[in-house]
Amino acid sequence: MNPSVAAEVASSPSTVAFPADFLFGSATAAYQVEGAVAEGGRGPSVWDTFSHTPGKVHEGETGDVACDHFHRFREDVALMKRLNLKVYRFSVSWSRVMPDGETVNPQGLKFYSDLVDELLAAGILPWLTQYHWDLPQALEDQGGWANRRTAELFAEYAVVLHKALGGRVRHWTTLNEPWCAAFLGYANGHHAPGRTSPEDSLAAAHHLLLGHGLAVAELRRRDPELELGLTLNFTDYRPADPEAPGDVDAARRLDGSFNRFFASAIFHGAYPEDVLEDQHGLWREGLVQPGDLEIISTPIDVLGVNFYTGELLTGVEPEQASAAAAAARAGGAPNPNVGSEHVASVSRGLPATSMGWEVFPQGLKDLLMRLHREYTGPAGVALYVTENGAAYPDQPDAQDFVQDDDRLSYIREHLRAVRDAMDAGADVRGYFVWSLLDNFEWAFGYDRRFGIVRVDYDTLQRTPKASAHWYAQVAATGVVD
Ligand code: FCB
Repeated sequence: MNPSVAAEVASSPSTVAFPADFLFGSATAAYQVEGAVAEGGRGPSVWDTFSHTPGKVHEGETGDVACDHFHRFREDVALMKRLNLKVYRFSVSWSRVMPDGETVNPQGLKFYSDLVDELLAAGILPWLTQYHWDLPQALEDQGGWANRRTAELFAEYAVVLHKALGGRVRHWTTLNEPWCAAFLGYANGHHAPGRTSPEDSLAAAHHLLLGHGLAVAELRRRDPELELGLTLNFTDYRPADPEAPGDVDAARRLDGSFNRFFASAIFHGAYPEDVLEDQHGLWREGLVQPGDLEIISTPIDVLGVNFYTGELLTGVEPEQASAAAAAARAGGAPNPNVGSEHVASVSRGLPATSMGWEVFPQGLKDLLMRLHREYTGPAGVALYVTENGAAYPDQPDAQDFVQDDDRLSYIREHLRAVRDAMDAGADVRGYFVWSLLDNFEWAFGYDRRFGIVRVDYDTLQRTPKASAHWYAQVAATGVVD
């Protein structure tokens, strides 16, 4: 579309246009799509162990085959090209390239090297995520992320990847959603490795961030021009009743432990004081060593933002909150909100996705503005929405086509929110829909479908849904109607 036409459609209230260099892409993660878990010398990861443990994943499903992307990546890249995608965010399986977390497996590296070549040949930018939750089991056996050594090995793993791929891959994300890795993995056990220790979860969170910082510093030293960053997940938390001190405190608490904890460590080189107070007594002595926060806050170029929903929260009077949290921790089911276990979520009454997540696009605009104002703007760091999308109960027709108007509208409204944030000054440069394919949705197995492309799990056939056809137009024209 020529610029004058773009400007004209942009002025219509129902259409918005993005800059020509805005990157439209899609994202996946290794364990969710690759399959081939015992091929090419790959070692087991915590997700192999977890998914094969009875009772951990919906109907005992595993990532053994998943979308078989390992064998079908050329077909998948061709599909991305047909969908006009400019960029593909994939993650590397650490245990495929280093089966025990330490020894290099050239066969595993070759898979990612071939994938990158295929993407570049198709004119698609490869965007690498180093870690999307699948820690080599051998490292978990030595304490996992609760062990400081894992952070050091993570930086060595970064160097191995950079030597093999750095010349061709310029966009580099260290971690995906350290909140989930630490608190779903080590506090409430909903994710691998399934541990339920608040103390371990805080150790894991700190060591994940330390691993990130060590990797960024080392990659920067080797290759100053690399676009480096990490991806954090954010939820828009607000008090159910803005007049109720307990609800205001509840929102402060989860905004603190979920959002500010990571952003503040990365951008301000400190964990927020109020969060440390909420988590008092749960941080192991000597966990944070002198200089750690300086490493963690090593400057980055890009902040990846994963956004799905917002929540209204309710709590108890601030003076009673610590006691209520301790009681909930002692008596209740393990909770990921370490130090704030008493906080509860209240429905806003908005339409929700199959995950039960309320659809709240305004939250994405507000989040991007806030990040720009408080964290990324002052640091001159660019924002990319590295995940956004929705699971819905898809109904395929006889040709396996899904008219997923609900998902299409979810993506459209969130893209509008991104554009609004850009108009208001946020430096957002790209958007990745989650996900390219229906895939293994962690503890929910294959029960929740996020793809813009349907996968028939019997035949592994891929069929673009209505949302994929629509998104292909958006990616080609930069116009959202
Ligand atoms: C994010 C994860 C991604 C996927 C989506 C739905 O938290 O990064 O792997 O599970 O949620």
